Amino acid sequence: MSTHSVEVDGVRLKLATAMTNRGEWIGQREVLHQLLACWLVVDESDLPLTPRLIGVPGIGKTALAMAAAALRRQELYVFQCTADTRPEDLLVTPVLGQEGKLAYHASPLVTAMIRGGVCILDEGNRMNEKSWASLAPLFDQRRYVESIVAGIVIPAHANFRSAVTMNQDDSTYEIPDYILSRLQPTLPLGFPSRQDELAILQYHLPFAEPEMLALTVEFLQRSHELKLDFSARDGLNMLRFALKRMAQDADHPISKDQAWRESLQFCLGEDGADLDELAQRKNRSLKGNPLPMGLGDFFFEADDPLHPDYEDDDDEDENDDDNDQQLR
Ligand SMILES: Nc1ncnc2c1ncn2[C@@H]1O[C@H](COP(=O)(O)OP(=O)(O)OP(=O)(O)O)[C@@H](O)[C@H]1O
Ligand SMILES: [Mg+2]
Repeated sequence: MSTHSVEVDGVRLKLATAMTNRGEWIGQREVLHQLLACWLVVDESDLPLTPRLIGVPGIGKTALAMAAAALRRQELYVFQCTADTRPEDLLVTPVLGQEGKLAYHASPLVTAMIRGGVCILDEGNRMNEKSWASLAPLFDQRRYVESIVAGIVIPAHANFRSAVTMNQDDSTYEIPDYILSRLQPTLPLGFPSRQDELAILQYHLPFAEPEMLALTVEFLQRSHELKLDFSARDGLNMLRFALKRMAQDADHPISKDQAWRESLQFCLGEDGADLDELAQRKNRSLKGNPLPMGLGDFFFEADDPLHPDYEDDDDEDENDDDNDQQLR
């Protein structure tokens, strides 16, 4: 832990520690450039933007923000938001020190504000309105926060930048509009191309055998095609477990194929092993929702040969079978 501290308005604040482990961002230049543009200031009177980075879990939202901070050569702080994050957790926490004296600890966010670093508010959609409200002045032209606990106003350094990552699917609270309007633009992360996905896996697991890498990339790419939410992180975990299983017993090594299949099952469940079934189920449950329906949906089940869209589904299935062959 850093022992750094600063004085703000007569109150001594102990600062948080910057992150040291930073990775490289592979592929998808566009979204990286968009994020860097948000953080540019083009005129003395201009202000940086605080974008929302959205995408399925494990797609690389945190990794992207970390890489962008590294490119700007700024210190990076990450604040993990949760459902029970309180305003003081976000800003300044009083801690009972030696001899019963109160010490004030600055959060990673406030530390970034003071030092002119970058702060990523990770999983922002999990945080409640009260905590978000305490950040309202920070994310408009005022650029300050007010710590009730320490009784001080803390202005942000001119170099302070931030971004909020959010998962689209599992919001704990509805974030109010006045907050969302301060978190603009929204930058969606998509799945990487085949080539990029291979490079990502290789970058993180340089010791993985090419065959195992190929199997995993094939699996991930096919799940992207089927619009399933398996991500780079799923692929990395799966590969890691398989490689560990293969290395475990030199006398009785298990085959690559067996290790990979086992890992698939234990990391992603039975579902992962049967992508087609999972894709169909997801498709069916989407159709069960009050999403826009075609007229045919009122009269026929989706899998009814009389359904006007039936032909299309069938074509897709044929393609899926082809891919399935490649996987085996
Ligand atoms: N383009 C990329 N370049 C390098 N690494 C990547 C890339 N995309 C994903 N990764 C790696 O995939 C893993 C998951 O990424 P990350 O933790 O950033 O996902 P996330 O979108 O923040 O997930 P969550 O929503 O669960 O927080 C990390 O190990 C990350 O380094
Ligand atoms: Mg993340």
